[in-house]
Amino acid sequence: MPKAKDRMKVVSIHLAAAVVAVLLLLAAKRTPAIAVPSPQCQWQCGGVDIAFPFGIGDNCSLSAGFNLSCQEVQSGVYRPFQGNIEVLNISLINGTVRELNPVSTYCYDSSSGSMESSTWYFDASGTPYRFSDVQNKFTVIGCQTLAYITDNTDKSYQSGCVSTCQNVSDLTDGSCSGMGCCQTNIPKKMGFYNVSFDPASDTSQISRLGLGSCSYAVLMEAEEFSFSTTYITNTTAFNDTNSGRVPVVMDWAIRDDGAPSCELATRNETGTYACRSGNSKCVESPNGPGYLCNCSGGYEGNPYLPDGCHDVDECKKNSPCPSVGGVCHNTVGAYRCSCRAGRRLNKQNNTCDPDTTLITGVTIGFLVLVIFSSFGYMILQKRKLNQVKQDHFRQHGGMILFERMRSENGLAFTVFSEAELVKATDSYDKSRIIGKGGHGTVYKGIVKGNVPIAIKRCALIDDRQKKEFGQEMLILSQINHKNIVKLEGCCLEVEVPMLVYEFVPNGTLYELIHGKNQALQIPFSTLLRIAHEAAEGLSFLHSYASPPIIHGDVKSANILLDGNYMAKVSDFGASILAPSDKEQYVTMVQGTCGYLDPEYMQTCQLTEKSDVYSFGVILLEVLTGQEPLKLDGPETQRSLSSKFLSAMKENNLDVILPSHVNGGQGSNELIRGLAELAKQCLDMCGCNRPSMKEVADELGRLRKLSLHPWVQIDAEMIESQSLLSGTTTASFEIEVGTTGYPTQEAENLPMNPRSSYYAR
Ligand SMILES: *[C@@H]1O[C@H](CO)[C@@H](O)[C@H](O)[C@H]1NC(C)=O
Ligand SMILES: *[C@@H]1O[C@H](CO)[C@@H](O)[C@H](O)[C@H]1NC(C)=O
Ligand SMILES: *[C@@H]1O[C@H](CO)[C@@H](O)[C@H](O)[C@H]1NC(C)=O
Ligand SMILES: *[C@@H]1O[C@H](CO)[C@@H](O)[C@H](O)[C@H]1NC(C)=O
Ligand SMILES: *[C@@H]1O[C@H](CO)[C@@H](O)[C@H](O)[C@H]1NC(C)=O
Ligand SMILES: *[C@@H]1O[C@H](CO)[C@@H](O)[C@H](O)[C@H]1NC(C)=O
Ligand SMILES: *[C@@H]1O[C@H](CO)[C@@H](O)[C@H](O)[C@H]1NC(C)=O
Ligand SMILES: *[C@@H]1O[C@H](CO)[C@@H](O)[C@H](O)[C@H]1NC(C)=O
Ligand SMILES: *[C@@H]1O[C@H](CO)[C@@H](O)[C@H](O)[C@H]1NC(C)=O
Ligand SMILES: *[C@@H]1O[C@H](CO)[C@@H](O)[C@H](O)[C@H]1NC(C)=O
Ligand SMILES: *[C@@H]1O[C@H](CO)[C@@H](O)[C@H](O)[C@H]1NC(C)=O
Repeated sequence: MPKAKDRMKVVSIHLAAAVVAVLLLLAAKRTPAIAVPSPQCQWQCGGVDIAFPFGIGDNCSLSAGFNLSCQEVQSGVYRPFQGNIEVLNISLINGTVRELNPVSTYCYDSSSGSMESSTWYFDASGTPYRFSDVQNKFTVIGCQTLAYITDNTDKSYQSGCVSTCQNVSDLTDGSCSGMGCCQTNIPKKMGFYNVSFDPASDTSQISRLGLGSCSYAVLMEAEEFSFSTTYITNTTAFNDTNSGRVPVVMDWAIRDDGAPSCELATRNETGTYACRSGNSKCVESPNGPGYLCNCSGGYEGNPYLPDGCHDVDECKKNSPCPSVGGVCHNTVGAYRCSCRAGRRLNKQNNTCDPDTTLITGVTIGFLVLVIFSSFGYMILQKRKLNQVKQDHFRQHGGMILFERMRSENGLAFTVFSEAELVKATDSYDKSRIIGKGGHGTVYKGIVKGNVPIAIKRCALIDDRQKKEFGQEMLILSQINHKNIVKLEGCCLEVEVPMLVYEFVPNGTLYELIHGKNQALQIPFSTLLRIAHEAAEGLSFLHSYASPPIIHGDVKSANILLDGNYMAKVSDFGASILAPSDKEQYVTMVQGTCGYLDPEYMQTCQLTEKSDVYSFGVILLEVLTGQEPLKLDGPETQRSLSSKFLSAMKENNLDVILPSHVNGGQGSNELIRGLAELAKQCLDMCGCNRPSMKEVADELGRLRKLSLHPWVQIDAEMIESQSLLSGTTTASFEIEVGTTGYPTQEAENLPMNPRSSYYAR
């Protein structure tokens, strides 16, 4: 292949310009657009990448203007050429091509003694190329040089540059400002230039001074040039450094006649629109007519090829997202930045800032969670506790109780909560215990400020009892009799229900008869009254409901005495309504030795007559002042009832009666009446025993006998008044004491400082 420079160069010995035409007239001959370059096309030459619309050889380029050839410049070294101009780089994005441009020279030839010029012109008009006005500068080097650049094709442009060297020592490397070097800009749209030296640039004189005898002028890429003083001091230095050629940047564009601009091209009327790829756009040429193609934002590749533009993976390298904590997400034609958890994207600074709102949010959320869960736990625990309490409540028949309480408004019965009772008893303090027995412990409690109550904690009861507990509570709570301890309420929330009674302060009949203070003799009539009141209470119990409520454990210890020493039958709470089926008889074992109905022990059937029997034993206690059972005596003397019955049989009652009764306070008639009544009550056969009502009536009759006529009237009056007024406080009673004058009973009685309330 012929060397390009050789073909291009014409040297004229004289000042005549050497004109080397780079005629690319082929471009003018329009060739139809090629749809797709042939697959056989070669896309590289001498290390230079060639991209469509450029191509090497037939059918590979878009048009003749982009037709390159790959030529061997030395053996084995190939370079791409556009016509006879070597191509250094091709850029689709910039729309530029770098080419090697020959340098024009004007030298003093000492051998001939004359100036020799070697000048070039560059004609790119009619091709897709224009000289880049941005990157190129007309550069002149010399000590006495004036060079012109002219374009006389379609317009008349002439410019020039002068370079002198007043004092060589003033020359500076890198400075091209008229001393040894001169640069000037060129206008846009230039596709032709011709270089000529002014004849005044005769260096014949200065070359003798040892300065460079050559002047140089060329249009070249400004960035590639840096002035060196050696270019002046050494004549051949500049020419030799670049081997006579320097890079020039050409702006290329699609400059087909039919599509000079994007507006026309995109109409695509001729079918020659060069931007064939999807996601491509048309860009007006920055220099000269025509247009360029570019991939749309977010795409890259070759817009001149069908499907040439493909998505840019912006995240692959040099992620545009914040380097610290940023995450890049590629999308088709775009990308998205996000930040890792705990950071927030700052779009202005493109940084991932710590997200304080998130951190505080998370912190607050966490705290809230902790608080809520602990609250939830507490609530759960409380609910569990309440559930247990409610289970107990239900087990103990609390629901039935409540139902009834609702239906019978104004029922004077309180269902206490566990907490209330705990408070009332100082957490069941030992000092509050006022009684203890097989069936439970009784505490004194204070509620509502200063109202005393007696709280009985039952021992464990079985399931059947639990079920009926509420039912029983209900009935017992309705019993309202002056001689029966009032059941005020209960507590069902606990495993074993608790009963709350009115507080009765003055101990029991048992204590009164057998207590320590026997020295103070109790008037017999008082005992008789207490017995009568107890009989009234029991009678009321028996007649109150059907089936009858049987006390089941009648004994002197269960007859409590209130502030006025009035009898109050107690501890029927654990007794039940008379059982109606056989199964229940077996489970009903109760009573106290000495008071037990012998018939009950045989039949296991508790009847109201069993209570009558037990009451008979109490009558004996009142009569004789002896305990119902003496464990230390001889065997026949142990049981008070059998002792009494045998004495009755032998008609020798005096042996068991104490002196103060026998012939003292009790009249014969009264003693005999009482003994007879007791005997009837203690009959072995229940059917022969009187009813409780009859017992009470008989006692009432006998009491009247015991009183003096004048006292009797008063007593009856007081008695009837208190009955009429309906109060339960028969506050005092006039007795005939041993001293012979009436006394207020309470003052006369042995005071029991300890309030007693015995459990069975
Ligand atoms: C270039 O300029 C020289 C001198 O001015 C002239 O002789 C020559 O014809 C010009 N060449 C072209 C192609 O215009
Ligand atoms: C170029 O294409 C034309 C028509 O498609 C064909 O006739 C010609 O042979 C091709 N030239 C080369 C070098 O492939
Ligand atoms: C392309 O250039 C080569 C060599 O310069 C030439 O042989 C060929 O004919 C040209 N083809 C076209 C279509 O211009
Ligand atoms: C241009 O081409 C030269 C040589 O072929 C190469 O060294 C240089 O890196 C290229 N420049 C660009 C921007 O491609
Ligand atoms: C495109 O132009 C820019 C700036 O002018 C330059 O840095 C880059 O190297 C050029 N690209 C090519 C492929 O020449
Ligand atoms: C093509 O687009 C890229 C980025 O979108 C831009 O840098 C470049 O200058 C554009 N080229 C032309 C010729 O407009
Ligand atoms: C050149 O400059 C040097 C120092 O700056 C000076 O000594 C010398 O005379 C100057 N030569 C001429 C020709 O002006
Ligand atoms: C001039 O420069 C060339 C190339 O840089 C070099 O080979 C030559 O020796 C230089 N001549 C003188 C006189 O310095
Ligand atoms: C410039 O350099 C080229 C190539 O090295 C050479 O052919 C030409 O003769 C030189 N011109 C001058 C004036 O030295
Ligand atoms: C341009 O027109 C040709 C035929 O008229 C059609 O095949 C082609 O798809 C069009 N291209 C565009 C980008 O509109
Ligand atoms: C961006 O960063 C600067 C310096 O780090 C800071 O002063 C500025 O407030 C930031 N801007 C925003 C919007 O966060």
